[in-house]
Amino acid sequence: MDLPRHHVIREGDLRILNPFSPAKLATLGQAIKLRAGDRLVDLCCGKGELLRSWHLAHGIRGIGVDISTAFITEAREHAAGLPVEFVHGDAAGFVAPEPADVVACIGATWIGDGVAGTIEILERSLRPGGMLLIGEPYWRLDPPDQQTVEGCHAQTRDDFRSLPELVAHFGDDLGWDLVEMVLASQDSWDRYAAAHWLNIRTWLDANPDDELAPQLRAELDTDPVRHVRYQREYLGWGVFALRKRG
Ligand SMILES: C[S@@+](CC[C@H](N)C(=O)[O-])C[C@H]1O[C@@H](n2cnc3c(N)ncnc32)[C@H](O)[C@@H]1O
Repeated sequence: MDLPRHHVIREGDLRILNPFSPAKLATLGQAIKLRAGDRLVDLCCGKGELLRSWHLAHGIRGIGVDISTAFITEAREHAAGLPVEFVHGDAAGFVAPEPADVVACIGATWIGDGVAGTIEILERSLRPGGMLLIGEPYWRLDPPDQQTVEGCHAQTRDDFRSLPELVAHFGDDLGWDLVEMVLASQDSWDRYAAAHWLNIRTWLDANPDDELAPQLRAELDTDPVRHVRYQREYLGWGVFALRKRG
């Protein structure tokens, strides 16, 4: 059970594996008013930067879970000596040993086959009255055709919602109040997407004969145009903080 190697190559030395800049991640930590000693669970934690940086800024403790052995190894190295723990495994079946104050899934709602199923997974580790954080894409502009949909790594328009549809979904369909949100910008999304291109090119230069080289060469040939034509214009991304109603 591991993440395919091309993901690890693409992410390179990035620590935040989503369209947030370090400043936006810090803004989110401040916005949700974390307190020293709060317990966090981060499902699909990648390299653990949320837990590491929020421990340093706010004194939280936490557990991160990820399916990538490479990312979990890096997370443990970066957070060595801090009261944050990293577990290798499938987050879909993870339940925290102790209910947490905040449970996050930032950029991986496929673990629950969408937002509703992911909220169910996260809630299993949440204390009553606690907060969920969901990182999710949304349509900035309605995609005019199937080419645009696929250019945003979707199969159908319904794979994502518009921002008003997503916010209404949290409340009206699922019964959670949206209590905070921080959205990526086109610039911060560029930082994530464009960093991949340099990571891939650097890796290709060093590994021309690797079996993954043709695949990654093809990606570098097409991904910059795909990003600026489709993703950058049509897709937004944000992290949404939720508290259960009632
Ligand atoms: C887009 S990255 C986001 C990582 C991290 N949340 C961040 O924002 O930096 C998605 C992450 O989900 C992890 N992942 C994918 N499927 C998973 C699963 N079933 N269980 C645990 N982790 C998973 C990947 O290894 C990757 O680290």
